Amino acid sequence: MKRDPRIDEEYFLSLLRTKRFGHGSYFLDTIDSTNTFARSVALRGAQEGTLVFAEHQTAGRGRWGRVWYSHKGKSISFSLIVRPKIRFTHVHHLTLMAATSLSEVLANKFRIQPQLQWPNDVYLGEKKVAGILTEAQSNGKKIMFAVIGMGMNVNQTAEDFSIALQSKATSLRLYCGKKIERVSLLVDLLYQLEDDYDRLCSRGFDFVLHRWVRRNRVLGKSVALQTLSGTWRGQVIGFHSNGGLVFLDHQGKEKIFTHGEIIEVKYAIGH
Ligand code: BTN
Repeated sequence: MKRDPRIDEEYFLSLLRTKRFGHGSYFLDTIDSTNTFARSVALRGAQEGTLVFAEHQTAGRGRWGRVWYSHKGKSISFSLIVRPKIRFTHVHHLTLMAATSLSEVLANKFRIQPQLQWPNDVYLGEKKVAGILTEAQSNGKKIMFAVIGMGMNVNQTAEDFSIALQSKATSLRLYCGKKIERVSLLVDLLYQLEDDYDRLCSRGFDFVLHRWVRRNRVLGKSVALQTLSGTWRGQVIGFHSNGGLVFLDHQGKEKIFTHGEIIEVKYAIGH
């Protein structure tokens, strides 16, 4: 069987159109986790925009301690170092921004309509295609740096996923019915991420939130929400201006969550 080629760094650089993102880069064959590697180079002073890309991760991390599988030569798995001047409590803005950037790139490039599940999951139809794990290092209330880790299933076939994952995960190839050139997708993604990040830093979170909300798949739905204080069931009734989820629990009490994750989406209330 023909092996999928690895991304060639020189070719990547020849296509790159950003001002900073990706200009310093590490292209690795195998690493435990690009987020862990990025954190260590950020601690040693790596500049904003430094990219850590890996063809394969042996201990890729998802949110809530989950494992993230990166199929060799078929995924896009990378971490990006940023040094925003925002409060530590606003780190989740970066996650929502990255999910928005990614979904818009996919929409424009492939004429598809990805949807977002709060806060970080990118869906095609009923299956997840990508996720984001943002990890930050603080210095009191400020952020020293943040690592935006992105994992996307690109050229996997159904057999690449375990039986358990086949009902929950998809790839761009499976959804679009064609093989995708990863390098051009990566380059487009970095361009969009840089533009959105610069605007987030200069104009604030509002313009990201509107675009995120437009693509959400959870408004009005009955959901299960995993949080540090336990799992909550109720209805999503809106989104707060700080990116939080506005939620109505079973007692009819309104709650706003800025941390947590929707783990199950059911039906639209009243349908
Ligand atoms: C999730 O959906 O829970 C988030 C998945 C994030 C996976 C990416 S792959 C690149 C980066 N390195 C990691 O170890 N995790 C993120």
